[in-house]
Amino acid sequence: MRLGILSVIVASALVAVSLWASPQTAHAATDRISGSDRYATSVAVSKLAFPNGTDTVYLVSGVNYPDALSAGPAAVASGAAMLLTAPTALPAVVAAELQRLAPERIIVVGGAATISNSVENVARGLAATVERQSGTDRYATSLAVVRAAFESASTVYVATGADYPDALAAGPAASSAHAPIVLVPGRANDLDSATRDLLVDLGATRAVIVGGAGVVSTGIESRLRTMLGTGSTTRLAGADRLATAIAINRASFATVPRGDAYVVTGFNYPDALSVGVLAGMRARPLYLSVPYCVTSQLRAQLTGATVSRVRLVGGVGAVRGMVGDLVGCLSITDPASPWVLVNKRTPLRPATYTPALADPGVASAWGDPVQKDAAWAVRSMFAAASAAGLGQLTLQSGYRSYASQSSIFNRDVAARGRAAAERLTARPGYSEHQTGFAIDISANGCMECIGGTAQGRWLAQNAWRYGFILRYESGQTHITGYDHEPWHFRYVGTTLAEDYREGGFRSLEAYLGRPAAPSY
Ligand code: DAL
Ligand code: ZN
Repeated sequence: MRLGILSVIVASALVAVSLWASPQTAHAATDRISGSDRYATSVAVSKLAFPNGTDTVYLVSGVNYPDALSAGPAAVASGAAMLLTAPTALPAVVAAELQRLAPERIIVVGGAATISNSVENVARGLAATVERQSGTDRYATSLAVVRAAFESASTVYVATGADYPDALAAGPAASSAHAPIVLVPGRANDLDSATRDLLVDLGATRAVIVGGAGVVSTGIESRLRTMLGTGSTTRLAGADRLATAIAINRASFATVPRGDAYVVTGFNYPDALSVGVLAGMRARPLYLSVPYCVTSQLRAQLTGATVSRVRLVGGVGAVRGMVGDLVGCLSITDPASPWVLVNKRTPLRPATYTPALADPGVASAWGDPVQKDAAWAVRSMFAAASAAGLGQLTLQSGYRSYASQSSIFNRDVAARGRAAAERLTARPGYSEHQTGFAIDISANGCMECIGGTAQGRWLAQNAWRYGFILRYESGQTHITGYDHEPWHFRYVGTTLAEDYREGGFRSLEAYLGRPAAPSY
């Protein structure tokens, strides 16, 4: 839970850095660097990194990562800024930032299919020199960018060009070692000849491979050792993208003075790309995170001796407030976890799961129990509604067994027809009610009409205080697979419920960064 905003520094109408105290952690503060979208976030980073302008700006795609991955360390090596652009139009916020930076030179990274000639032409109006650095594919573009920025380099980082997380996480580490990142077709069993030529031309004596053998092969590793000598090549990898980022940072930043750590979502690339330049310039680590929580490994890093401030990058759509609060991850697959996601694409496992149950001790149509940790929350919420002058709410439905969900589903199919029933009731094995974390509430003897009542409005506004979210909102059927159910509330715990509300989320799928589940 957040203690409250301490101060807000508004850099412009579109970009903001907000600061709050982080109550659960040892570090001093958390802030967020973000704009209204990926382009504005890249501008927010640029303003922090280059308050007085700069000679050179790299312009990279905000929608197509491969051409952009080598540009971060190249920009840092050249003292250049990096901004994202849409493929066929330079966003106004980026054009304004280019005017403020007043560069002599703009480097457009990638071919015309990645960044159009019309964007290049607009850039020509904003700098004396505009050049394009590109090759026939992502690997050739990477080589072109590296060759243009580095005359020599003793260390070279080698990453796969087939995905973005490893190269992004390595950006600041490579930058702070004055090393380029070269993208390679990592599954090949040998290093391609163009990259070999590059290593010779740069005079490289050391290589750092990022990622496991599944993404950069042992054949490539052997070739590097043969070329550069035994002991010349290090591989930094973890069990997944998040752990690989931690391994990279441990190897590069374990002994830095106390300072900032940057945290981005590990599941999208633009914000990481943008902040990589700032982190690289300042020789600070960049961590990848689950969008809504921190793993115990990440938490250990962020509360470690070298971190005095955690800087989230991107809006709450990228990194939720709970990451800044260092809230540890709970399972979203374990049916006993209050964060479990159950929907038409994500059945309960096992389908006949039975939770630990308790009687919530409230007025109840059938005396249903609920999951034991949610019982107090049901009781508190019903008592608060009553204290607010709304009379007695009734628990219409709580925990349902597989068998009872089955009979409710069959009853609804018989009464309404299959299509209507599917939008109202889950098939057995797919209902949140089977976890005991979901409740249906009625007021004045009516469940289906609660939406239009004072009680329904009060619940929609206040349920979060007791750890509930309105699970099936109107306008979200394309994501949840169900029509609006103003009576169905889902216990997720107060921490998540508060963050969900603050972030303006409207489905648990969106909050957890999971795919839509409109159908089975
Ligand atoms: N009414 C909700 C979708 C259920 O049956 O679980
Ligand atoms: Zn329900």
